[in-house]
Amino acid sequence: MINVQNLTYSYPNQRDETIKNLNFTIAKGEIYGFLGPSGAGKSTTQKLLIRLLSGFSGNIQVLGRLLKNWDNSYYNHIGVGFELPNHYAKLTGLENLQLFASFYEKQPTNLMALLDRVGLADAAHKKTQDYSKGMKMRLNFIRALVHDPEILFFDEPTSGLDPTNARIIKDIIRELKQHGKTIFLTTHNMHDADELCDRVAFITQGSIQAEGAPKELKRQFGKPLLQVEYMNQGTHSKEFELSNLGKNQEFLELLNDFPILNMHSKEASLDEVFIALTGQKLILTDV
Ligand SMILES: Nc1ncnc2c1ncn2[C@@H]1O[C@H](COP(=O)(O)OP(=O)(O)O)[C@@H](O)[C@H]1O
Ligand SMILES: [Mg+2]
Repeated sequence: MINVQNLTYSYPNQRDETIKNLNFTIAKGEIYGFLGPSGAGKSTTQKLLIRLLSGFSGNIQVLGRLLKNWDNSYYNHIGVGFELPNHYAKLTGLENLQLFASFYEKQPTNLMALLDRVGLADAAHKKTQDYSKGMKMRLNFIRALVHDPEILFFDEPTSGLDPTNARIIKDIIRELKQHGKTIFLTTHNMHDADELCDRVAFITQGSIQAEGAPKELKRQFGKPLLQVEYMNQGTHSKEFELSNLGKNQEFLELLNDFPILNMHSKEASLDEVFIALTGQKLILTDV
């Protein structure tokens, strides 16, 4: 559905390349994630894919056609969720969706059902200026779906949402996949990437550092651990790498010398794999 070759891009008036020689393909029905810290180039890539930015080098092919050979009918095939919601404040939620749907050739899907799906049915006739931030974000998300497009682009779809609303959005993304939609999403949230994506690309500083199924990446590059709780004048906890446990003297001595309270194996997290492969953290904290 999407095929990107040697994609490179610099913003006008910027010397350095923001996007550096990206290569990836996304198959029909796949959820493909761009996982990376803030400033990595995720939104820029999405903007290039949806033709909001132009002037790149390399090739972007969508639905078998180069982006430059698409006319505006391209937008009938794609739905876009931007990172920050922008709605017409004086229009109601439903009117915002109706207006948006009118831009497309296809008859809109059942807009009230969409609103209902994200808990906005009761607010359908309320002006969006009176919506809370979370409500605006949910409206923003379903706006991408009004024309039932085959391909969806979601930029940080759960960012800033509380767990309940994030869950609703993630469930819808999975339902879209079940209906055969192809989905490109960006996130700096490793849980979302792990939970949703068939494949993820780790992106830092405009480059893809690794790519694969989350499970596979964790298996290949993560170190599963065994966490052991034991008694030694109080409760203690220690972690051991699962590999070669039988030859791990410290572990064997612990087994012999102290009463064990419990043991749990812990899968490597995508977070750890990300750090191992890119040398960077996903969440940049200023400590
Ligand atoms: N309009 C712009 N002009 C110049 N530089 C920009 C512009 N938008 C983003 N950038 C820069 O491009 C880099 C990537 O940004 P972005 O794609 O938004 O990253 P991400 O979405 O991964 O957080 C950042 O260094 C950012 O400052
Ligand atoms: Mg972004």
